Amino acid sequence: MRGAGPFDPTRPNIARVWDYWLGGKDNYAVDRELAEKLLAIHPASAQMARENRAFLQRAVRYVAARGVGQFIDVGAGLPTALNTHDVAQDVNPDARVAYVDNDPVVIAHGRSLLARSPGVVVVPGDVRDPRSILSDAALTEHVDLAEPTCVILSAILHFSEAATARDIASVFIEAMSPGSYLIISVGSGAPREGNRFASAYTAARIHIHSRDELSTFFGDLDLVPPGVAAVRCWRGDDPADVRAPRSATFLCGVGRKR
Ligand SMILES: C[S@@+](CC[C@H](N)C(=O)[O-])C[C@H]1O[C@@H](n2cnc3c(N)ncnc32)[C@H](O)[C@@H]1O
Repeated sequence: MRGAGPFDPTRPNIARVWDYWLGGKDNYAVDRELAEKLLAIHPASAQMARENRAFLQRAVRYVAARGVGQFIDVGAGLPTALNTHDVAQDVNPDARVAYVDNDPVVIAHGRSLLARSPGVVVVPGDVRDPRSILSDAALTEHVDLAEPTCVILSAILHFSEAATARDIASVFIEAMSPGSYLIISVGSGAPREGNRFASAYTAARIHIHSRDELSTFFGDLDLVPPGVAAVRCWRGDDPADVRAPRSATFLCGVGRKR
């Protein structure tokens, strides 16, 4: 399995920079330094991370309310307030969640904080190898893919080129049974904003996907209204509360398999 590399507190890291923007404490000086540098270049970064997280929570609640009781959250990140299982189990106390990440620190924190919760497993895995994730023994013992399942790829596919991201999503879609859902979000912005951000982001290589590219990641799934949208504008069951779009945003969508 390809990992995020061994634990190295001297180099900024995707999960810890994200944790800082979300207001978490699981980050080091190098992560805070990069996070602050990015905020100077692109002041909306932390707000975008929080808006993405709020979208994820709305989308999980939407899917859980439609009777889906199993979630595979790939690139889950460090535990934070209101994780996927907190939201899903608020709707359905029996909901089961498999958290997957390739960062050993995320796995260690997840195992000490989340895996004690009923219905939760934490599994190391690399999104670039989706078949390995789907055949992982700990995951298949926990999640039955013959039943409707929600796969979450939140703020992770912008670390892959569009063609690779589409292939990754298609493997999950193929494995999902009818009535399953796919939640995706990716960082976006006007080309100049996106390029300035991507060149300053030294924790990983970023690929900015267009709205049209993101639409293709859903294959022939039915997109839940409003379709591919800015995360602030995806309201699920709460359409009255529509926010003004802006160019620097995460783009998202929620697809359902017929
Ligand atoms: C920006 S954070 C998003 C966290 C969470 N999904 C959210 O939306 O709040 C990206 C996460 O993806 C993980 N990640 C990055 N590349 C990955 C890969 N190839 N396979 C699995 N996880 C990966 C990072 O370790 C990090 O935890």
